[in-house]
Amino acid sequence: MATVIYFILIALFIIPTHTLSQSNDDDGFVSLLLSEKGVNFAKDVLIEQAISSLAPLQLPQIITKSVRVPIIGNINMGISNITIFQVNVSSSSITLNNNNTGEISIVASGATANLSMNWSYSCHSWGFFPIQIADKGEASIQVEGMDVKLNLGLEYEGGTLKLSPLECGCFVKDIAIILDGGLSWLYQGFINAFEGQIRSAVESTVNNKIREGILKLDSLLQTLPKEVPVDDIASLNVTLINKPLFEDFSIGLEINGLFTAKNSSMVPKYYHKNSLPSVDSRHLRKMLGISLHEAVFNSASDVYFKADSLRWIVEKVPDQSYLNTNKWRFIVPQLYRKYPNDNMRLNISFATPPILKIHSEEIEANIYSDMIVEVLNDDEIIPVACISVIVKASCYAKIAENNLGGHIDMEDFDLSLKWSKIGNFRMHLIESVMRTFIKTAALPYANSRLTKGFPLPIFRGFTLQNADLIYRKSKIMISTDIGFTGSYNLK
Ligand SMILES: *[C@@H]1O[C@H](CO)[C@@H](O)[C@H](O)[C@H]1NC(C)=O
Ligand SMILES: *[C@@H]1O[C@H](CO)[C@@H](O)[C@H](O)[C@H]1NC(C)=O
Ligand SMILES: *[C@@H]1O[C@H](CO)[C@@H](O)[C@H](O)[C@H]1NC(C)=O
Ligand SMILES: *[C@@H]1O[C@H](CO)[C@@H](O)[C@H](O)[C@H]1NC(C)=O
Ligand SMILES: *[C@@H]1O[C@H](CO)[C@@H](O)[C@H](O)[C@H]1NC(C)=O
Ligand SMILES: *[C@@H]1O[C@H](CO)[C@@H](O)[C@H](O)[C@H]1NC(C)=O
Ligand SMILES: *[C@@H]1O[C@H](CO)[C@@H](O)[C@H](O)[C@H]1NC(C)=O
Ligand SMILES: *[C@@H]1O[C@H](CO)[C@@H](O)[C@H](O)[C@H]1NC(C)=O
Repeated sequence: MATVIYFILIALFIIPTHTLSQSNDDDGFVSLLLSEKGVNFAKDVLIEQAISSLAPLQLPQIITKSVRVPIIGNINMGISNITIFQVNVSSSSITLNNNNTGEISIVASGATANLSMNWSYSCHSWGFFPIQIADKGEASIQVEGMDVKLNLGLEYEGGTLKLSPLECGCFVKDIAIILDGGLSWLYQGFINAFEGQIRSAVESTVNNKIREGILKLDSLLQTLPKEVPVDDIASLNVTLINKPLFEDFSIGLEINGLFTAKNSSMVPKYYHKNSLPSVDSRHLRKMLGISLHEAVFNSASDVYFKADSLRWIVEKVPDQSYLNTNKWRFIVPQLYRKYPNDNMRLNISFATPPILKIHSEEIEANIYSDMIVEVLNDDEIIPVACISVIVKASCYAKIAENNLGGHIDMEDFDLSLKWSKIGNFRMHLIESVMRTFIKTAALPYANSRLTKGFPLPIFRGFTLQNADLIYRKSKIMISTDIGFTGSYNLK
């Protein structure tokens, strides 16, 4: 009996952890949440892009009709070259996850449009008028109360999004036709003959154009890279992890978000999320929230470390006299005695990738570096000592345009001698020189590299505006408005 209970207990504990490890829960380190305000903004951008791709537009139809008019006889009437000039949408709405189908529904109502067309008529009269009557001219058409309804599918497919037009309906309520030219006597017959056909020509053309526009937008989505290059060494993995999550009026996306080496032979490190990177929607007052887990920064640190790019040969410092043994004759006399008046350089490398931890106020960084002091003696580079420098620093994230960069300040540092060819010397003697070196040379150098940062994963054409940074345990959240400065060619 006891064994059975024991097995049940084991099963209870094993099964859930087993299923968890099978899901790709651990893959997403950057989350994006488009708030209701953001969803509406994106919808307006989409409609604006759709309208500018719609007009001006020539409808292919040439419609002819033969109408029998009393006394005169049969009149052949025709319209051609129907051109939509301008479309205005006065109000629109968007519904996410329509009836839990995962579909998005966009409705634009009360749209107006103005059109032009050519008209003509002719009749080979018999009877009372033995002459041929024919005329042609132009007409302007005002479309009032056009409703467009579009149902879109937004699905997850192989690390990216798939957008598909599922249903598209355009309904024209009213059209007003103003004919320029001498058709007044025929006006009503003309309207009766063509009104319905103009209406349905407009409806079907708008439908087709919107469908084409969505397919075009989808093909733009399909060309989005799964990796965004950062520089020669690293890329950002922007592969989408899950299907979009609809939550009331907002859309959430989760992407891998880690740095990967461009050198594919480098083995990526495995990261585990100690907390969810999801955007805390309570703090999202703006259009878009982007949450970055600290693993994103640590993956950067790992990639640059493994690519051997966290190295620095220091040959110039603000006060160049420090790189001459003469300056050290009282601090480390044996160095001066052995290499009098020789120039020096520092060969700094990292012992491990810098480790970053995000707290609710700041980012803590611990940097373990080795500094080899080298003497330049008659074209020869002689390593004389190696000092281990451990810097405890605080970092602040900064947003510049669409990039997330940073700034680093030193909190504290610790020195120890690793090896020396000039005998032992006391670390506290060089402490103040090291402090000055870190503050005036090392940090400015690091900051010059950190300022630019890396590109945040947002769609082309959009820019961040009034971004705020919020620090949480193990993650940074960006709360930002967005602007649209690009244009999509949906024609
Ligand atoms: C990018 O992320 C996806 C999803 O997590 C993963 O399957 C893929 O291996 C990653 N690519 C690289 C180059 O690490
Ligand atoms: C069709 O109408 C447009 C706009 O009025 C005009 O620019 C164009 O020349 C017309 N084309 C033909 C074939 O009449
Ligand atoms: C949702 O489903 C109900 C019942 O099936 C239907 O009446 C309604 O029109 C649907 N809503 C939308 C927006 O499609
Ligand atoms: C569209 O709106 C603009 C500005 O409100 C107006 O001038 C124009 O006449 C409108 N066009 C149509 C076709 O309704
Ligand atoms: C359509 O409306 C625009 C803006 O009011 C105007 O510039 C244009 O001339 C109009 N075109 C026609 C054919 O009515
Ligand atoms: C149609 O009207 C346009 C102006 O709107 C004019 O330039 C064109 O010549 C007309 N086409 C025909 C075939 O009458
Ligand atoms: C790529 O990485 C491997 C292993 O880290 C290294 O041996 C190789 O030299 C690197 N290649 C390039 C082009 O950086
Ligand atoms: C810096 O020191 C390392 C040993 O830690 C050495 O491998 C490297 O070649 C040195 N760099 C230069 C430019 O001398």
